Amino acid sequence: MTEPRSTPASADPATVQVGLGDRAYSIVIGTGVLDETGPQLAAIVRPGLAVVVSNPTVGRLYRARVTASLEAAGFRVAGIEIPDGEEHKNLAWVAFAYERLIEAHAERSTPVLALGGGVIGDLAGFVAATYLRGVPFVQVPTTLLAQVDSSVGGKTGVNLPAGKNLIGAFYQPRLVLGDIGVLQSLPRRQFLAGLAEVIKYGVILDAELFALVEAELDRILQQDAGLLRRIVRRCCELKAAVVERDERESDHRAILNFGHTLAHAVETLTEYKRFLHGEAVAIGMAFAARLSRARGLCDETTVERLVALLTRAGLPVAVPPDAAGPALVLAIETDKKVAGGKVKFVCVEAIGRSRFELLAADVIAAQAAA
Ligand SMILES: NC(=O)c1ccc[n+]([C@@H]2O[C@H](COP(=O)([O-])OP(=O)(O)OC[C@H]3O[C@@H](n4cnc5c(N)ncnc54)[C@H](O)[C@@H]3O)[C@@H](O)[C@H]2O)c1
Ligand SMILES: [Zn+2]
Repeated sequence: MTEPRSTPASADPATVQVGLGDRAYSIVIGTGVLDETGPQLAAIVRPGLAVVVSNPTVGRLYRARVTASLEAAGFRVAGIEIPDGEEHKNLAWVAFAYERLIEAHAERSTPVLALGGGVIGDLAGFVAATYLRGVPFVQVPTTLLAQVDSSVGGKTGVNLPAGKNLIGAFYQPRLVLGDIGVLQSLPRRQFLAGLAEVIKYGVILDAELFALVEAELDRILQQDAGLLRRIVRRCCELKAAVVERDERESDHRAILNFGHTLAHAVETLTEYKRFLHGEAVAIGMAFAARLSRARGLCDETTVERLVALLTRAGLPVAVPPDAAGPALVLAIETDKKVAGGKVKFVCVEAIGRSRFELLAADVIAAQAAA
């Protein structure tokens, strides 16, 4: 580990380990972690060229700090800028990134860092997984969603015109640096969408986390740093445990899809324009709870607590009228997670406890009309 730190760093960063044998890695969470990028990276790769992938929005805010930290630790830094937006998470921009890597003379040992939200993380991760058959990859997530979800677990990829995330690879990062401080510049709507995924972890796996968000929602919305660090850390611990048990989603990892069957259908039917992903997940979770209730799997209080919390957090809970009927059945059926006509639907039994139910698309869609 390279000492001393040039910039005042987080008072007390927390570290979560992802135990995947020879592909194990650390997630470092705290305020100011961005300024530790150089020493943290130097602890896992020899200083040389490092490539930072970002977008103009995030780059303008944070690229200089990451670059300064890397240079102070002895790295030479090259940058790749991808335009902001999900519509650029595609193969054309992957090819652009390959070209830039070639120009910069990036080698097998050159680390690629993703500085941004889930879009940059997914794209840069796929580039890192495939350039020269794989180079060291580091996630520096800057949205709440990326810090609690997309930066951990190794799913990387891009979209095709035919659908989202249809191209990809499982490729674990070597390090994840989650700086809580950068969330302050995040637009509020994006922050709330990330909070939906936090609530998801509570519902499916951790009643205590759910109760914490319930009790401290006001302070969370004011972005209390200590509280956010605790919450991001807990979500990373939960995701790490799921990924350790089932890295490639052959079974258990699908529990993380709670709320996502309907969310994906709603996103498709509203052409990814009306809702942010986390907002669609909020709708999908409220729906999944009601469906669980209708099937006698949970009680009414469970549904009410979830709907009340999502509503207090300013998240939508009603299935939009245009996501109904045959269109909804079709949208659910075309989800890439469907097998043999049935969906492995995640139901809630109680806050903190969930299970799978194999359901046909029309059974699920019928609940939307109920
Ligand atoms: N790999 C996975 O396991 C996984 C899981 C969930 C979602 N995803 C993917 O993640 C993507 C969504 O990620 P997202 O919600 O982070 O969206 P995003 O990456 O588009 O970021 C949202 C917006 O916030 C801006 N932004 C990011 N950080 C900021 C900051 N600190 N301050 C100000 N603005 C900032 C971005 O430029 C962007 O405009 C989707 O493509 C989705 O498929 C992947
Ligand atoms: Zn999600």
